[in-house]
Amino acid sequence: MVEKLCLQMSVKEQIDQSKLPEHIAIIMDGNGRWAKEKGEMRVFGHQNGVTAVREALEAAVEIGLPYLTLYAFSTENWSRPQSEVNALMELLVNSLNQELPTFHKHRIRVNSIGRTADLPEHCQGTLRQTIEETKHHTGCTLTLALSYGSREEILSATKRLAEQVQQGHLQIQEIDEKLFSAHLYTEGMPDPDILIRTSGEERISNYMLWQIAYAELFFLPILWPEFTREHLFQCIYDYQTRERRFGKTSEQL
Ligand code: FPP
Repeated sequence: MVEKLCLQMSVKEQIDQSKLPEHIAIIMDGNGRWAKEKGEMRVFGHQNGVTAVREALEAAVEIGLPYLTLYAFSTENWSRPQSEVNALMELLVNSLNQELPTFHKHRIRVNSIGRTADLPEHCQGTLRQTIEETKHHTGCTLTLALSYGSREEILSATKRLAEQVQQGHLQIQEIDEKLFSAHLYTEGMPDPDILIRTSGEERISNYMLWQIAYAELFFLPILWPEFTREHLFQCIYDYQTRERRFGKTSEQL
């Protein structure tokens, strides 16, 4: 009887609201392959990737997820053909402008991580303005990783700490995980509980290497433009069935 009832319930309804993850990070992969499968240009894949971004964000809002972080452009992505880089930058600007009413409606706070000073001036302007206009929102924090690379992030944190030691403002013994975390782009954010990567590739690709130390990993065999809200709900549901021990034994939990 219970089983029968469960079958009739949607995945979303089966999610335990008291055990929601705080933070989901996503590597949105497979736009190019999706476009190729359809005989289209890569940019067509990115354009349809925006629809999937909307799906992920809507699902996050519906379920009450506090943090969603999307890998939108890596430090390595600068080496793609200039036309593709330009198209991605335009897509970012257009999406931010277009989605502003949605950000306001759902009280979404937009944030970014990465070397955003590398972005073209007009992208930086739109991004800055969106962040400014949504900074008081208290719903989901949508963080866009832009010109982001985890090794670069870790190196720059290390250099800043080393400088403080060199100038006599900090003792080496004072450097602990908390202080180190506070020097990363993700300062003040909880670490991701879930990392999702689409496209069937099972790699981390220089994404939040420090922060995902205890994240549950989900590698989905679908291409990013195929991602729907149901995929996010399914990952959250599966996450709730996994036992997170953080190095302890089952009995100690
Ligand atoms: C990876 O697919 C995807 C990207 C490098 C860009 C992600 C961008 C979007 C989803 C659209 C814009 C985003 C926002 C937030 C407005 P790929 O091109 O590496 O695919 P492939 O591995 O199949 O070639």
